[in-house]
Amino acid sequence: MRPRVSTVFACQSCGAVSPKWLGRCPECGEWNSYVEEVRGERQAAAASASTAAPLSHVGTAAADSRISTALPGLDRVLGGGLVPGSLVLLGGEPGIGKSTLLLQAAQGVATRGGDVLYATGEESAGQVKMRADRLSIRQDRLLMLAETEVSAVVAEAESRRPALLVVDSIQAVRDSTLSSAAGTVSQVRESAAVLVRYAKARGVPVVLIGHVTKDGSLAGPKSLEHLVDAVISIEGERSSSRRVLRASKNRFGPVDELALYEMTGEGLREVPNASAALLAERRKGSPGSAVTAAREGSRSLLLEIQALVGPSTAGSPRRVAVGVDSSRLALLLAVLEGTGLSLSTREVFVSCAGGLEAYEPAVDLAVVAALASSARGVALPEDAVFFGEIGLLGEVRVVPAAMARLKESAAMGFRKVFLPAGNAGDGAGFADLDVIPVDRVGEFLGRMFEVRARP
Ligand code: TYD
Ligand code: MG
Repeated sequence: MRPRVSTVFACQSCGAVSPKWLGRCPECGEWNSYVEEVRGERQAAAASASTAAPLSHVGTAAADSRISTALPGLDRVLGGGLVPGSLVLLGGEPGIGKSTLLLQAAQGVATRGGDVLYATGEESAGQVKMRADRLSIRQDRLLMLAETEVSAVVAEAESRRPALLVVDSIQAVRDSTLSSAAGTVSQVRESAAVLVRYAKARGVPVVLIGHVTKDGSLAGPKSLEHLVDAVISIEGERSSSRRVLRASKNRFGPVDELALYEMTGEGLREVPNASAALLAERRKGSPGSAVTAAREGSRSLLLEIQALVGPSTAGSPRRVAVGVDSSRLALLLAVLEGTGLSLSTREVFVSCAGGLEAYEPAVDLAVVAALASSARGVALPEDAVFFGEIGLLGEVRVVPAAMARLKESAAMGFRKVFLPAGNAGDGAGFADLDVIPVDRVGEFLGRMFEVRARP
């Protein structure tokens, strides 16, 4: 019997399907994004029908069954290692270090006694070997498979029974039951679905590498993110060797965990003291710079917030936020109006230095301190850290994990911490820290910069 085929049109931007061609996608608004796809009827994969079982009989993925990659930073971002049977998507721009990271992780898993199947659809096995040589990786438990057909990858995994399967990359593999080219949204989605079935059926973790497009979304974007258990991204400037690893989705762990890596001649190396590395470039004594203690998952990290306030010739002066929340910046500028430090006619730029991000409200106080410092041309004390959320009424609100933030500040040699009055109690145990409670923004600016509200 010939397999039945059906023709559909799929949007290459968002994955929406339609029985007929459309010039503009009604889902995402993209023009000319529909591509015809012929789908062979999939053999009912559910032939081995599942049966229900009482929840009490269901085994869990216990924490101790997690598989360590021997890269502490990656393990932390994953929530404590790879969960058996889970699908992880590692996204990043081309050339950022995805293959390098996963080859190192593969080595970590292999040294702990498991075989790793590394399916490379992008590079030849020889090219991967060159990288492995460069990384001085022991290669006897690393099985290389240069293959782009997803069913062949799964078949090889079924026969080799690896402890980890890596697919480099999901855009390079295809499912030949679909007619469209590798990398199209339906190929990416269908291949990932085949790999999910394998991962769940065999309890093997599968890591997919995905290239990020210019606008920052993963190709086949939304369609893949709901399929996988965790989405990890590796970011960094091409010109700098620093790489930031973070999870934007994780069914088995926290999403705000972060790890800092350095690309060296021998692969990626975790930066042991992230706060020190991030503050190393700080120009002490410059107006517009404030240090904050941010929370990144289970750790606290000291970050530099920079502000530049300048004259504006435009009717509506620019407000630019890089790595900080732009709507919170707007809120803080509105709050400042009431304190006597009006910036409504000035251009305002705020960024989190070093290409990092600080989106939590607890950095508000540092943003305000940096803004006021730049506007007044007065540097903040160089041994001071600022944290606290600012409310619409100018009140400085309590933040979570003040103790951890204080600890990191003390460990990094800072002497003064400006923090919400409600968190000041946590400062009692720190003999080396001058803990300065702040109740209201107006009072803070009055004390630091002699800003007075007009009566
Ligand atoms: P790669 O892992 O191939 O990136 P991706 O898979 O994300 O496309 O890494 C590419 C870059 O990293 C390349 O420019 C070379 C550099 N690199 C190092 O600097 N040191 C190393 O040890 C390795 C293996 C790569
Ligand atoms: Mg690569």
